[in-house]
Amino acid sequence: MKTTDFEEEILKEISATEKNKTKKIPLIRPFIDKEELEAVWKVFQSGYLAKGPTAKLFESEFTEYLGIKHASAVSSCTTALHLALVCLGIGPGDEVIVPDFTYPATGHVVFHVGAKPILVDIDLKTFNLDPAKLEDAITENTKSIIVVHLFGYPAEMSTILEIAEKYDLSIIEDAACAIGTLYKGKKAGTFGDIGCFSFHARKLLTTGEGGMLVTDNDEYVKIAHSMKDFGIRIVSNKVYFTHPGFNYRLSDVLAAIGRIQLKKIDKILEKRKEISKVYTELLSDVEGIIPPHIEPHVTHTYQSYVILLDEKFGVNRDKVIELMAQRGIESQIGTYSLHLQPCYKRLNFNPKNLINSSIAFRNSLTLPLFHHMTLDQVEFVANALKNIQKNQ
Ligand SMILES: Cc1ncc(COP(=O)(O)O)c(C=O)c1O
Repeated sequence: MKTTDFEEEILKEISATEKNKTKKIPLIRPFIDKEELEAVWKVFQSGYLAKGPTAKLFESEFTEYLGIKHASAVSSCTTALHLALVCLGIGPGDEVIVPDFTYPATGHVVFHVGAKPILVDIDLKTFNLDPAKLEDAITENTKSIIVVHLFGYPAEMSTILEIAEKYDLSIIEDAACAIGTLYKGKKAGTFGDIGCFSFHARKLLTTGEGGMLVTDNDEYVKIAHSMKDFGIRIVSNKVYFTHPGFNYRLSDVLAAIGRIQLKKIDKILEKRKEISKVYTELLSDVEGIIPPHIEPHVTHTYQSYVILLDEKFGVNRDKVIELMAQRGIESQIGTYSLHLQPCYKRLNFNPKNLINSSIAFRNSLTLPLFHHMTLDQVEFVANALKNIQKNQ
């Protein structure tokens, strides 16, 4: 792959840093360079730092990329998810189904509208909501399902959509990790009523912090645009505040970064796929390591490269993180089991129904993966895991 001068500079800087720091391999390093800086500078010069034209341009480019009608740029995926529930009119007395294994933001927003999250177990092969467990969780109060495409791997949408239709439930897609993810050739975030993306620093497209709400529904986008902006409505050039809204807007400064990142997204995704392929080749034969599973009808974008350790590995996950750190490698847990977090305990979910999520919470491990990661570094990480296992 051809590299630009600026990328060469970064590569040199990385290799110099690595020599000085004896092979420190970070979990993530955003792929961001001079182009983003120049775009931000232009926004500075325009004088419109908050609510200027740039966020609007970013929205329209995002809709083109996804092949969807509307987008509303917001301050994070969490605020997009909150707005999505507001758009759908979810409130007190309602239940919303949420996979138990996810970043807690997915479940937290359900509390924010006064509704109750209903936690459902995952399929350990994909780390996503297990559609076979979905129907048992539906009651007469269920209004919506928040589907997560965790780590960039799509949820099993065909079955989920069928069940949602059967029970007349809306679907919100938490596509925080899943820009560019494909399920049967269609982009994640475009299946449900509303899709929500994250541009946090660890995400594939980053603005530092940021997010996007997308939808084909004309009414939902009107609500989102208004509610992210204090509940504003402009009629005949007059400003009215029709609802007590929030300030969830994405600033033009950050939107400028997002526009450049969106131009680079194919390159970003391609590189992640290349690196992940090497990881999987190197780790497939290691006893006790289960690399990410890929079905033929999906495209995994590897927002995170997450493996599962089973008992044959012989060393527990937390100890592995410690031993990797001693070798200068940053690794991390996959993500969280909501029912084990203090703020969900009061809902008294039966842990026996959430076994896979607990296993994933205990045994999943995220390995370093970043755009300028070299194949030597990938090998170094894979060998470290092998050595940890050999010496247990
Ligand atoms: C699955 C999932 N949903 C939601 C979020 C929240 O995203 P943000 O940090 O943009 O609010 C994250 C962030 O890590 C996530 O991984």
